[in-house]
Amino acid sequence: MARVLLIAMLFLWAGSILMVQGGDPTLFFEWNVTYGTIAPLGVPVKGILINGQFPGPNINSTTNNNIVINVFNNLDEPFLVTWNGVQHRKNSWQDGVLGTNCPIPPGKNFTYKFQVKDQIGSYMYYPVTAMHKAVGGFGGLRVNSRLLIPVPYADPADDYTLLVGDFFNKGHTSLKKILDSGRNLGRCDGVHLNGKVAKGDGKDEPLFTMEAGKTYKYRICNTGIKTSLNVRFQGHTMKLVEMEGSHTMQNDYDSLDVHVGQCFSVLVTANQEPRDYYVVASTRFTKREVTATGIIRYKNGKGAASSELPPPPVGWAWSLNQFRTFRWNLTSNAARPNPQGSYKYGSINITRTIRLANTAQRVDGKLRYALNGVSYVEPTTPLKLAEYYGVVDKVFKYDTIPDEPPSDNTKVTLAPIVLNMTHRNFVEIIFENHETAIQSYHLSGYSFFAVGMDVGKWSPEKRMNYNLLDAVSRHTIQVFPNSWSAILLTFDNCGMWNLRSEIWDRHYLGQQLYASVISPNRSLKDEYNLPEGVLTCGIVQGMPRPPPFSS
Ligand SMILES: *[C@@H]1O[C@H](CO)[C@@H](O)[C@H](O)[C@H]1NC(C)=O
Ligand SMILES: *[C@@H]1O[C@H](CO)[C@@H](O)[C@H](O)[C@H]1NC(C)=O
Ligand SMILES: *[C@@H]1O[C@H](CO)[C@@H](O)[C@H](O)[C@H]1NC(C)=O
Ligand SMILES: *[C@@H]1O[C@H](CO)[C@@H](O)[C@H](O)[C@H]1NC(C)=O
Ligand SMILES: *[C@@H]1O[C@H](CO)[C@@H](O)[C@H](O)[C@H]1NC(C)=O
Ligand SMILES: *[C@@H]1O[C@H](CO)[C@@H](O)[C@H](O)[C@H]1NC(C)=O
Ligand SMILES: *[C@@H]1O[C@H](CO)[C@@H](O)[C@H](O)[C@H]1NC(C)=O
Repeated sequence: MARVLLIAMLFLWAGSILMVQGGDPTLFFEWNVTYGTIAPLGVPVKGILINGQFPGPNINSTTNNNIVINVFNNLDEPFLVTWNGVQHRKNSWQDGVLGTNCPIPPGKNFTYKFQVKDQIGSYMYYPVTAMHKAVGGFGGLRVNSRLLIPVPYADPADDYTLLVGDFFNKGHTSLKKILDSGRNLGRCDGVHLNGKVAKGDGKDEPLFTMEAGKTYKYRICNTGIKTSLNVRFQGHTMKLVEMEGSHTMQNDYDSLDVHVGQCFSVLVTANQEPRDYYVVASTRFTKREVTATGIIRYKNGKGAASSELPPPPVGWAWSLNQFRTFRWNLTSNAARPNPQGSYKYGSINITRTIRLANTAQRVDGKLRYALNGVSYVEPTTPLKLAEYYGVVDKVFKYDTIPDEPPSDNTKVTLAPIVLNMTHRNFVEIIFENHETAIQSYHLSGYSFFAVGMDVGKWSPEKRMNYNLLDAVSRHTIQVFPNSWSAILLTFDNCGMWNLRSEIWDRHYLGQQLYASVISPNRSLKDEYNLPEGVLTCGIVQGMPRPPPFSS
């Protein structure tokens, strides 16, 4: 049923040569998306399976591989999946968010074709429709280094993916109803590790097995809905080696705070007495702490894991300090042989500063989340298609929010938000959180330099404390309560890109926007044409395809 074909010949795909670059191998997948019962916390819930699996299958790829995934939606509602952190150079057509793609109708299929161009690292995919993400449809996506490119650590004995997340037993339909009626999701029912929780009764199957003396790589991603999680291994330290596509300075950590949407790769050496140990995930910044565990087993080990769990850190100042220890390894490479640090982002002049403040308000009695006074609503025609077909006027207006928070942030309107970004501008974005809830933001299509964060209000003098040398280039950044976080990036990837809250109830109720980056020359050097086979919907359905870019 689940067919995975690996074919290194590309000439078959001559028709779509622009999407599938010549020379690089192509991985083919067929995914069957269905409902099925899952019970990560022991309570049966209607889940979303991919080829019968929850979590979904791991995608194991190598830099520059072309990935072709034919997704069959066998649910009774529209479905769409996004590749969190895959940059889709010139190709926002494949980003799989509702601003770029029509959802796959029930009973239909859509084939994603994208290349993991010039990327390495640990990523994940997940659904963006309804509240599907709450019950599955997510999985790990790894991009290995090419054989010729040195990796700054010895080959691990094995490479494991650990997806952790909060979980709600209510199911996605009830969660969606709660949000549609303008109420708050409340707190999660528990936490899972790869869709499971160890019971601790001595009968738990191990999540992973290690051999004494060997070193293993764990790719840890938070695929949850709204809760930051602290992850740690009983009796073992973690050596951080990679974060969202960048090699980091290899510091050792007893535990790591992983915010929603973030991924870390760590090395764990099996250097303890051979027996079982727990890997532990605990909720952070919540009134009631929830902890879940999974078993790590030493091969030929003797003895159960000790019930004494290492405690999680307390308070968020610890987490802010931990963020400050993350450094880009300037001399290490990433996907290319040249050192990461050869791109000197600190010496580029900022051409635009965008300050975004999140708020939670009632609009007509219903809870909405907004950025600079506008709460995003999804038009029925994807923004990107509206732009391509030249019918923007009928779908959205550009720049409905100002570049800084309005003085009266209590007035909230509902509208699409599309920022008109000038191609290749070097932009500073400051996320300002005046609320008491933690935030986590992701930008698709890019990685950015996470140059600073601090408590209090942002002001221009704070730039003096930015890390302009070795901030990690990554795709998701947290913002602590009553704090700010700043990122820098060049908008050099043409397309329509989603800047979203990864806190999924906030995302669903409007805390997101899009950045439109248009090729000034309408050039194929900057952006691919609308691929054949892309689904159309809304007002562009049935419209004749506009003439393609020609050069
Ligand atoms: C997908 O799963 C459904 C339900 O199990 C099954 O009826 C269908 O044949 C499967 N389709 C494919 C393409 O595997
Ligand atoms: C993933 O791909 C790499 C490179 O092709 C290969 O060496 C490795 O065995 C694969 N891992 C799994 C789990 O398939
Ligand atoms: C749907 O799947 C069929 C059978 O694999 C394939 O030929 C077709 O191209 C797919 N359609 C889309 C829109 O991807
Ligand atoms: C940084 O990368 C270099 C080159 O790969 C490596 O030799 C070095 O150990 C790394 N430094 C740290 C602190 O991780
Ligand atoms: C950056 O701005 C400064 C001050 O305006 C100017 O002197 C400098 O030439 C600019 N640098 C670049 C690379 O444009
Ligand atoms: C977007 O900005 C560019 C300048 O970068 C400008 O030429 C263009 O007219 C703007 N488009 C809209 C719709 O405002
Ligand atoms: C647009 O095309 C012209 C001619 O090919 C080229 O000189 C110019 O640099 C291009 N502009 C951009 C912004 O790419």
